[in-house]
Amino acid sequence: MKIPPVKGTRDFYPQEMAIHNWIVDGWKRASLRNGFEEYDGPIFEYLQMYQIKSGDEIVEQLFSFKDRGDRDLAIRPEITPTLARMVNQRINTLPKPIKWFSVPRLCRAERPQKGRLREFFQWNIDIIGEDSVLADAEVIFTTVDYLREVGLTPNDIKVKISSRKFLSAVLKKIGISEEKLNSLYGLLDKKTKLPAEAFSEALIQQVGERISEQVISFMGSQSVTSVENIVKPDAGGELDIAIKELEDCASRLGQMGISDYCVFDPGIVRGLAYYTGIVFEVHDIQGDLRAICGGGRFDNLLHDFGGPKITATGMGMGDCVLEILLSEKGLLNQKISARSLDYFVLPVADNLLDDTIKLVAQLRTLGFKTIFSYKSGSLSKQLKTASERNAKYCIIIGDEFKAGDIVLKDMSTGNQKTVPLNEFLANPGKF
Ligand code: HAM
Repeated sequence: MKIPPVKGTRDFYPQEMAIHNWIVDGWKRASLRNGFEEYDGPIFEYLQMYQIKSGDEIVEQLFSFKDRGDRDLAIRPEITPTLARMVNQRINTLPKPIKWFSVPRLCRAERPQKGRLREFFQWNIDIIGEDSVLADAEVIFTTVDYLREVGLTPNDIKVKISSRKFLSAVLKKIGISEEKLNSLYGLLDKKTKLPAEAFSEALIQQVGERISEQVISFMGSQSVTSVENIVKPDAGGELDIAIKELEDCASRLGQMGISDYCVFDPGIVRGLAYYTGIVFEVHDIQGDLRAICGGGRFDNLLHDFGGPKITATGMGMGDCVLEILLSEKGLLNQKISARSLDYFVLPVADNLLDDTIKLVAQLRTLGFKTIFSYKSGSLSKQLKTASERNAKYCIIIGDEFKAGDIVLKDMSTGNQKTVPLNEFLANPGKF
């Protein structure tokens, strides 16, 4: 009986694994050059961890189970609660600000669709203990720094920025009570995912017709200041502060040289319940795909997890949409290959296998990626295999070997030369 892979999961054959490693290596490089240190946590936690503050959507998508001690556990759907728990545990000894990154494997029981699976990898960067908008801008810069490195330009993607503080202040001014905000965020976050009519109907049900029109008009605003046509900020009030933060963030992003990647978009709400300030998502410019990444400020989460009141901001980027977009844009380099080798050693006869093995071991000890044919056989067949394996050079162990020579074949040019083995081993790079 053949058992298929579980719905929403992926098998990483060597070629897919090479692409995956290339993506993860880029994430790690961008994190390190922006001053983030790596951490990780367990792949399952107490179920309660995700019921506290992640929001209904994530709770509905949990893979949860009971362990043998009847404890309720869940596979991590995100790593932010684990980060909050870990930082709280050592809050007094960790130097601040904390700038950490991680690349966890996560599981969410979502309906599998383009860019959304049930198991995926997610790059996380977070800054804890720095309440200035500069930290939010740094998270956005690090995100763009990576996306720019892999070749995505402002013509391919946009960082859409808004603020929960801004949204909450506007919604309250329009006449929505504080208690209704959280459930309303859940709906507003779905605006682009639902057909316009379904969204409008659901909105009217929650807030009534008059307010719903104002909400829809606000969500379409093109600039922070144009919102003043709908509501007026009071000097020093919540809305005024939120507008100043957004402007401050835009000016920091300008100093960092990435304004051309960034736009204000009050339609960005974020699905998770814990965000409190600036929020952002990166989207492909055509809007064909789900969000490439999302994040924002979550100033209450550590406190909600029993720690002190300490501010935090960060983002998560999955590997699925990113890979689709890179592939559509032709940016997944054809040379990303699991099959790259320095040397392929070919014995022309079985009695040369002993010498072949000795040479292979020497080359591997010197640090060269080297493989050999287990069986001698037709030279052309072996050369074809070597070429399929992307070997830079073939070393042919033939009749010359009795005289202490090998034949070195450059696979890119096809040129070959006879070389004394001792000289070659003393300095393989010379040939
Ligand atoms: P999130 O919006 O739930 O945020 O996920 C962030 C990103 O993870 C998404 O934009 C997408 O790239 C990827 N992602 C989410 N679900 C799936 C899925 N089912 N399949 C493939 N990719 C997916 C968070 O998780 C926050 N914890 C991020 C964060 C870190 N906020 C602050 N720090």
